[in-house]
Amino acid sequence: MFSKDQASQIILYFLLSIAQQSAQSAVSETVLDLESSRPIVHTPVGCFRGLRAHDGDYSMFLGIPYARVDPDNVFGPPIPHRFEGIFDAVDDTARCPQIEEFNHTITGTLDCLHVNIYVPNSASMDNPLPVMIQIFGGKFQFGFAGRYLYGPRFLVRHDVIFITFNYRLGPYGFMCLNTSKVPGNQGFKDQVQALRWIKENIRYFGGDDSKITIAGNSAGSISVDFHVHFLQEPLFNKVILQSGVILTEKVFKDSDLDAPLKLAKQLNYTTNDMYDALSFLNRVEPHELIAANRDSGVVVEPCVEKQFQDADNYVTKHPDNINSVRGVDVLIGFNNDEGYVGVITMEKQEYEIFDFVSFVLDKDFEFENESKLDEMKNIIRNFYYGDDVQHADNRRPNMNVYADFTYYSPILRTIRKYLDSGLDNMYFYMFSYSGERCFAKDIDNISYTEGGAAHADELGYLYDISYMKERLRDEDMLIVDRMTELWTNFVKYGNPTPKLSKLIPLHWPRVTQDQLPYLEINTELSLGSSPMHRRMSFLDLLYRELDSIAGRYRMNNETGNV
Ligand SMILES: *[C@@H]1O[C@H](CO)[C@@H](O)[C@H](O)[C@H]1NC(C)=O
Ligand SMILES: *[C@@H]1O[C@H](CO)[C@@H](O)[C@H](O)[C@H]1NC(C)=O
Ligand SMILES: *[C@@H]1O[C@H](CO)[C@@H](O)[C@H](O)[C@H]1NC(C)=O
Ligand SMILES: *[C@@H]1O[C@H](CO)[C@@H](O)[C@H](O)[C@H]1NC(C)=O
Ligand SMILES: *[C@@H]1O[C@H](CO)[C@@H](O)[C@H](O)[C@H]1NC(C)=O
Repeated sequence: MFSKDQASQIILYFLLSIAQQSAQSAVSETVLDLESSRPIVHTPVGCFRGLRAHDGDYSMFLGIPYARVDPDNVFGPPIPHRFEGIFDAVDDTARCPQIEEFNHTITGTLDCLHVNIYVPNSASMDNPLPVMIQIFGGKFQFGFAGRYLYGPRFLVRHDVIFITFNYRLGPYGFMCLNTSKVPGNQGFKDQVQALRWIKENIRYFGGDDSKITIAGNSAGSISVDFHVHFLQEPLFNKVILQSGVILTEKVFKDSDLDAPLKLAKQLNYTTNDMYDALSFLNRVEPHELIAANRDSGVVVEPCVEKQFQDADNYVTKHPDNINSVRGVDVLIGFNNDEGYVGVITMEKQEYEIFDFVSFVLDKDFEFENESKLDEMKNIIRNFYYGDDVQHADNRRPNMNVYADFTYYSPILRTIRKYLDSGLDNMYFYMFSYSGERCFAKDIDNISYTEGGAAHADELGYLYDISYMKERLRDEDMLIVDRMTELWTNFVKYGNPTPKLSKLIPLHWPRVTQDQLPYLEINTELSLGSSPMHRRMSFLDLLYRELDSIAGRYRMNNETGNV
């Protein structure tokens, strides 16, 4: 027996030797060389030889480097990348440095800025297909683009090109400093570079570069919202936001300008000079830096960048101060029990002392008057718990507190903002199905019969997750068929229900200034309107009151520019 590493080495060697053999055959001028066993695509940035899929009528171009991390400044902007000759696009296993969420091991290298492209065989330059780009989630700290999670099989059968890519995470992606070398949001700049690469090159793969949708879940969805707010270049025209918007996260609050000094110190290198610390960290082995980041508790996340003459700035002002966003078509929504897994998995002891109400208020506000703060907390507790107190046997009130402040109200306020910006082709959903392919419950080994659809549970109904290959019960596959049909209809037509069918027997109306209809995706499809309207009205009033008595962190951010 050989180890898994050896096995993958052998497989890779096998693929490379096939590649070398076919490299000697004439390189075709066509987009997809149907004669050879492997597809080749010629682009201005290189030739890419992919693989034919065995589980559907499509080709895969895996692990194409769209950019490089600058070896002299690993915390700085990405450097665009091109190839001479033929690149073997066969490996989707690259990950940027992180603690991955499955086995919690430290993994990844800085040779990670790769894109994976899945092309249905019907695509060609004469018959270009719409493009769906998935930006993965993971709190900006973890996640990777390969088929381990984002298997394309269910999506590509609907005749769309499906694309995933990696971007830098944690300290490499989101250290925000007061220097033009590391202004912050490197991970977003990687994403933009990937989107540029796709826009410039996807036509050679048979993609329609006038129909590009960017989609994401959780932090991927937050990223999409950032691009809707900040991207000036026309790199996409439709967006899908699943359970995440800028208002979801505690972003912009803790940007730690001393992060390099603290991280260096954690690695036993003591200095007071930030440039000295940065140059030390630049040489540190990535797994050591990821461990130091974990052990030091240094917070790295998206920020409002300080502006510099010689820097490529991206997020230059607070999103609250951008009133008009890009004109795009929108599919947006959430799951009906976003808070379930996060709250149910807390240990009893931790749960009993955790102050959810402070936690959610702290996300958006800073209070100068402590007694005013206590007053507001009591009102919120009374609304959610009545006379009861927080106890471990009844977690439902806190699931609602957490979900309302983190997901439901932020997403509804974002829909309002988009409407006020004039976006008029917007569809709103609530996913409430719970089955064997629920992603989040599965990771935490929670039975799918518990709770509703939790945060990220929908992933299993869009992607052919590698370790769920056997879970194909009819009732689950019905949801897979529905989700992928609705999502790819939106990608193709800007309308998730262009015509009625047995699978989708109803018309999903758009959101308007006056009405907030949503499609509920469950065993049955149904239409609803203004979900959780009592709780949401309470939050609307609460936010109005809080805005007037407490400064929003968001507005008071010390990085200025607001
Ligand atoms: C987690 O560990 C399992 C069992 O060893 C392995 O099959 C899987 O690939 C690992 N997952 C990741 C993301 O490394
Ligand atoms: C950022 O750097 C500039 C120039 O060195 C300095 O004037 C400013 O005070 C710094 N800001 C912070 C918040 O450290
Ligand atoms: C730093 O020094 C301490 C004390 O000598 C040691 O225990 C620790 O392993 C060192 N850390 C690293 C990352 O070398
Ligand atoms: C703080 O809030 C309390 C309760 O609302 C109020 O009585 C008090 O006057 C406030 N203090 C200041 C300094 O505004
Ligand atoms: C998952 O949960 C089931 C039922 O509660 C239990 O029997 C099993 O041991 C758990 N598996 C793991 C890996 O914890």
